[in-house]
Amino acid sequence: MIICRTKAEMRKTVQSWKRTGETVSLVPTMGYLHEGHLSLVRTAAQRADRAVASIFVNPTQFGPGEDLSSYPRDEKRDLDLLAAEGVHAVFLPSVEEMYTTAGDTHVEVPSLSGILQGALRPGHFRGVSTVVTKLFNIVTPDFAVFGEKDYQQLTLIRQMVRDLDMPLEIIAHPTVREADGLAMSSRNVRLSPDQRAEAVVLNLALGRAETLAASGATVQEIETALRSCLTEAPSAEVKSVDIRDAETLAECSGPLDRSSVVLLAVRFGTVLLIDQRVIAPQN
Ligand code: PAF
Repeated sequence: MIICRTKAEMRKTVQSWKRTGETVSLVPTMGYLHEGHLSLVRTAAQRADRAVASIFVNPTQFGPGEDLSSYPRDEKRDLDLLAAEGVHAVFLPSVEEMYTTAGDTHVEVPSLSGILQGALRPGHFRGVSTVVTKLFNIVTPDFAVFGEKDYQQLTLIRQMVRDLDMPLEIIAHPTVREADGLAMSSRNVRLSPDQRAEAVVLNLALGRAETLAASGATVQEIETALRSCLTEAPSAEVKSVDIRDAETLAECSGPLDRSSVVLLAVRFGTVLLIDQRVIAPQN
């Protein structure tokens, strides 16, 4: 496995593959890998001749007071896991390498970056779309794989790729879950044992949303029921419960008559967990 710490090394590696007609896939990550990331990596490896993973904790997507300094990191373990999956190259730049210039240029998808999680975390999605654009420009992948768990991120990146004619295909990977249903996340390790036990409530609420939708409940009724379901966990601080059009994230109301996504954001102590489920329309 080739480890590239500079943009020049990464570009040279990909160019040598592309010269012989090989295709390349990319899994962008912030490290501290878990089974969820590894399943994205496996998909990436199936889709292209060469699989690249990037590990970069991107400071520009963290707001003041967010968990940048405490974001978990374990480079050695991450590299061992990626090597075991047969990843061909890892892009592991420092912050100085990634942002060599003053960083005056940004990429933003305004209709999607200021809503939902973006309203709770101003500047977050501008940081994400800018760093993902940089990664695409450096690695020049034919495919990039993103998890559905970060559904707004996935929707925004798809829109950005379409709007800017970026020459790659975005592949969405279903959320990978622990045995009890909690969506895998690097943040889960920061939950106390009690919070970890309670966090399963997000997946339970998503199941409840599906049942209610099947019984003909309206968007408003489902949102209200989910809030009360989530607050059954004593330490859960419900940040947002939203049901949106699954394609555009536009607001919806009344009965669920189109493919919709349920988006949850719940804080346990200092740890913000998100989860989602797409619900098909009822006939
Ligand atoms: O989902 C993430 O881990 C990050 O937002 C990403 C896509 C790697 C950009 O920093």
